[in-house]
Amino acid sequence: MTSNRISRRVSRRLAPLVLALAASGMAAASGELPRIVAKNGRHALLVDGQPFLMLAGQAHNSSNYPGALPKVWAALKDAQANTLEMPVAWEQIEPQEGKFDFSFIDTLVRQARENRMRLVIVWFGTWKNTGPGYLPEWVKFDNKRFPRMIDKDGKTSYSHTPFGEATLAADRKAFVAMMEHIRKIDAKQRTVLMVQVENEVGTYGVARDFGPKAQAAFEQPVPAAVLARQKAPVPGAAQGNWRQVYGDYADQYFHSWAIASYIEEIAKAGRAVYDLPMFVNNALRDPFPQPAAPWNSNFASGGPTYDVLDIYKAAAPHIDFAGPDIYMPESHKVTAILQQFQRPDNPLMVPEMGNAAGYARYVYQAFGMGAIGVAPFGIDYANYSNYPLGSKFTDRRMVEPFGKVFGVFAPMQRQWAQWALEGRTYGVAEGDDRAAQTVEMKGWKATVSFREFQFGERQYLKDKNEYQSGTEAPNGGLAIAQVGDNEFVLVGQQVRVKISGAGPNEGKPSMWARVEEGRFDTGGKWVMERNWNGDQTDYGLNLPAQPTVLKVRLGIYEH
Ligand code: DGJ
Repeated sequence: MTSNRISRRVSRRLAPLVLALAASGMAAASGELPRIVAKNGRHALLVDGQPFLMLAGQAHNSSNYPGALPKVWAALKDAQANTLEMPVAWEQIEPQEGKFDFSFIDTLVRQARENRMRLVIVWFGTWKNTGPGYLPEWVKFDNKRFPRMIDKDGKTSYSHTPFGEATLAADRKAFVAMMEHIRKIDAKQRTVLMVQVENEVGTYGVARDFGPKAQAAFEQPVPAAVLARQKAPVPGAAQGNWRQVYGDYADQYFHSWAIASYIEEIAKAGRAVYDLPMFVNNALRDPFPQPAAPWNSNFASGGPTYDVLDIYKAAAPHIDFAGPDIYMPESHKVTAILQQFQRPDNPLMVPEMGNAAGYARYVYQAFGMGAIGVAPFGIDYANYSNYPLGSKFTDRRMVEPFGKVFGVFAPMQRQWAQWALEGRTYGVAEGDDRAAQTVEMKGWKATVSFREFQFGERQYLKDKNEYQSGTEAPNGGLAIAQVGDNEFVLVGQQVRVKISGAGPNEGKPSMWARVEEGRFDTGGKWVMERNWNGDQTDYGLNLPAQPTVLKVRLGIYEH
């Protein structure tokens, strides 16, 4: 046989394998950095070339030392997480100017690999919760070189000004050094997936810097990139200075632009040495009323709140997204927040969320909406509870509600992330009103109700106030993937689901063709455990408190 014929035969044999690898994304696996991709307004984080769902948890603020890590890994494991969000503070990597110490990052990355976790690095630099707490002392107390903001009355604010050129240069230098170090130790294995630049920026109590440099910039024309994206909520000049264009919104908008521009410089320089996805997180303003009113000391001015996302997009193109830190437990607010931060130009990712049990149901909603990651805050057995923002517990009882949900997504996370990218997924969390909700899908609609018994209808009950035990507080949640025209994957807990025809199928008689309970394995293969029929399907699909995965097919029959 000639070598040509051999190679043709080999390539014919290998062709299906190559195609399968390409379809699964494996072909791109070698050496590809994590990156975010978009498709028709939905997103995925690609890790090793394939969509990856971050089942994440953030450690407590002060757990960024080797001695604190064992309690972090233990909690993350119980949470069935695959990603740890961990702060790295400027004060710890550059305690003396120009002398860098990356030993914590070395330990963190090594232990993450040992624990089979990925990492998101949270950069506590110029601003942490708007303040200077994590600055090295040589920055913190030298306010000539590293100035703070000046308020309207000429008083010095607690927070550093985004017009501090030396502060920016020093923060950027430290950040770049950190990114260089991460590249050096991690570019091959890519344990670090992305980096948050600064933490909950903005300023409380002061709308913007009124110092001379800031004031001069405020009186300049609004940059064209901002004008092109951020529309004035009230009619103003088409161009001109900030006040002329944005009226009562001008101070907040200007401050947002100033902080976003500062962050952009840091992110751009960091990505030039190691191009990981980068994002900012956000101390939210109330999502209501809409449209947003001008700043009135009611939130941190200048942060990437939903109403100024366009300013951040214009000023900080090296930031992939702004994510909401959700500490508002009310379901109608959570729904509004998720909607405000999910935009074609802003992948939905929840970098922080309360770790109280009531938040666990929102994981279904966020993943159903197509979030690339969700991280409850304080997934850490350090002896610290941030109640009332989060759970009172600091042990397994805090982690368990999230562990149950993450656990059911864990083996199928890559598959789910792929469906989310393809726009096939929908999410529901039980509302505080406990009312049923409808999900419109392609050709079908799901009615999702709560507090039901598994058998029978509510009208059969003698006592109409009798409810399924364990449903005293809202904790139902459901994520649906429409994987075919008539086929769905349901992941959820404590919900009743009924599906009927909608759109072209409206009014057509339908019934369950097949309702399989089972799981997807890590290779994306469905493993059936049993088929639901009879009592188990007569009153809708009643998912119990233990998260359950169903693969469901419906059929339409003739009248
Ligand atoms: C939001 C901040 O971003 C976190 O670092 C932390 O302080 C939480 N608030 C509160 O626990």
